[in-house]
Amino acid sequence: MSTSKRRILVTAALPYANGDIHIGHMVEYLQTDIWCRYQRLVGNHCIYLCADDAHGTPIMLRARKEGISPQELIDTMQERHQADFAGFGIQFDEFHTTHSEENKQQAQKIYLALRDGGHIHTKTIEQAYDPEAKMFLPDRFIKGTCPKCKTEDQYGDSCESCGSTYASGELIDPVSVVSGKTPINKESEHYFFKLGDFQEMLESWIAADHVQPEVRNKLKEWLEGGLRDWDISRDAPYWGFEIPDTVDKYFYVWLDAPVGYMATTHKYCERTGEKFEDYWGKDSTAEVHHFLGKDIAYFHTLFWPAMLYGAGYRTPTAAYCHGFLTVNAKKMSKSRGTFIAARTYLDHLDPEYLRYYFAAKLSSGLDDIDLNLEDFEQRINSDLVGKLVNIASRCAGILGKRFESKLSSELPAPELYEEFGAAAEEIAAFYEGREFSKAIRRIMALADKANQYIADKAPWKLAKEEATREQAQAVCTQGINLYRMLITYLAPVVPRIYEDSVALMGSPLTWESARIPLLGVSIGTFSPLIQRVDKDKVAAMVEASRPADPEPAKQEAKKKKKSKKSKKSAPVPEGCIAFEDFAKVDLRVAKIIRAEHVEGADKLLQITAELAPGDTRNIFAGIKEAYAPEDLVGRHVVVVANLAPRKMRFGMSEGMIIAAGPGGKDIFVLSPDDGAVAGMVVK
Ligand code: MSP
Ligand code: ZN
Repeated sequence: MSTSKRRILVTAALPYANGDIHIGHMVEYLQTDIWCRYQRLVGNHCIYLCADDAHGTPIMLRARKEGISPQELIDTMQERHQADFAGFGIQFDEFHTTHSEENKQQAQKIYLALRDGGHIHTKTIEQAYDPEAKMFLPDRFIKGTCPKCKTEDQYGDSCESCGSTYASGELIDPVSVVSGKTPINKESEHYFFKLGDFQEMLESWIAADHVQPEVRNKLKEWLEGGLRDWDISRDAPYWGFEIPDTVDKYFYVWLDAPVGYMATTHKYCERTGEKFEDYWGKDSTAEVHHFLGKDIAYFHTLFWPAMLYGAGYRTPTAAYCHGFLTVNAKKMSKSRGTFIAARTYLDHLDPEYLRYYFAAKLSSGLDDIDLNLEDFEQRINSDLVGKLVNIASRCAGILGKRFESKLSSELPAPELYEEFGAAAEEIAAFYEGREFSKAIRRIMALADKANQYIADKAPWKLAKEEATREQAQAVCTQGINLYRMLITYLAPVVPRIYEDSVALMGSPLTWESARIPLLGVSIGTFSPLIQRVDKDKVAAMVEASRPADPEPAKQEAKKKKKSKKSKKSAPVPEGCIAFEDFAKVDLRVAKIIRAEHVEGADKLLQITAELAPGDTRNIFAGIKEAYAPEDLVGRHVVVVANLAPRKMRFGMSEGMIIAAGPGGKDIFVLSPDDGAVAGMVVK
């Protein structure tokens, strides 16, 4: 580890002020928080900045719909966002808004520098206009029939059914979402940023180590295709900042949004007395790291560095993209109850669980990450409760009961302690490189070792005999010290457990100080550091996330029906089914949580199969001759999850369990017990 202190400015993308934070967003804010906490833990000067992204048409229209001013809307949203972030232990050094005086000044300054440098030009363009609402319409505010597959009710930029993208003018029967009227085309003068002026600069910025390899490849494609000018103006009415020396022209929200990073730095520096120039000046020796989702890479890796460079500022050290969150292997969905608001999560579950779970899944790449709710429960209960905290609770328990919580003055296995300490560099490198899942794996392997040590020595037995009492105390002292090192390694991930552990052990910890064992002193009284995940609470959270009104679910079903109708299939040879038909079968791993005989049925068992906590299916399966109910409970099986419910003599059957064999006694359910968990998609 380097001993010189780095000065690091870190940002996470600025959340839009027109909606609440959900657990998908939390991937990013937690990834960034863990990275920053790690940097501070090893002694770097690291500041984590963020703000609300408070401009743009959606915010203007939402405020209008609610009958409040945009200012009122963004003020309320900012409060809600900050409360949610605080609930998850996100430690911002400053949280601001893009609708601030600092941002207005800074955005105008950048724009004027670009304009005076000759990088802005104007052009008259034609755009969709709502004659009733008297406003130009962004693509997302126009709906109509897809020009390719003819599915109705599609947005003006892309079709959700066939995935094609198009210009809003190509939609069939377009209507304005704002007024319901047909949009007309109208001309207006727009301001453009000449991105092409920065082709060379961007080529060399991208070639240097500022972006991930996957992003670099994508950017190279864009650069090879030639860079197009970027439209940075919008006409009134628009909720944003006016462009200097123009009438009724506003900065497009994406122009002043990243400038929000600088505005927040201004606010931070004002409060702390640090200098803005030290971070953003051309000669800055500080590092600037941006964390963001892969959907907004373009803005951060092309426009933003070019804007900074063109206006005479330093360019970012790095832009790190992460993937998207899925829940139970599917896109978050309101009707499935998996579109979970940060607040809803906090109402039901401990934030430390999610921090740990995401860390255990995050890598430095762009892969999507899946929150499988059953895996979540098992992982937290086995890793955090069963392995990690178990070390502290067993050892502190014995020390408290029999040794007045006093630690021995020597470690009985100093080499084991040394081994734990020697892992520090490797774990540090994983954190630094955003390979959190690797860090977690390494730390948990050490936790296994610690548990093994304690199990081998069995201090609870040693403590009972006078002759071995001291040994028991020494073993527990060893255990507490191993735990102390592990919880320091995990401090960026589970800060609340870390703080409570520090309180128990009575001495503050840093990455370095954890290497010196705690000996001969008394520790506090142990109280549980974490609860097991309660399955019912997970289910309640999912339930609370389902819309009260069944309409959205119905609409989703309607959309699906339509998209099926519109798919054209290739001719299929006799005896075969089309791939599309096969793809419709949703095969999933489910866990059998109940199995019962059915009164009056010779062949059937009634089975409750769980796909995810709160998502169960009642299935009647003809496997009674082959299986006793008690043999099935707890097993994982493969089910058809989207079979239309069928009314049977004994009740409704909501799926089918896949089995092999001729039938009767010779039938075998497919049981993927090799690490499979409920909810997994069968491929
Ligand atoms: N306001 C812009 C960012 C401006 S930055 C100068 C924006 N806001 S957002 O609210 O839509 O998203 C904020 C961040 O959360 C983005 O980086 C986005 O990629 C991320 N995520 C939003 N939904 C997500 C998931 N489902 N999964 C993972 N990250 C997600 O974009
Ligand atoms: Zn289509």
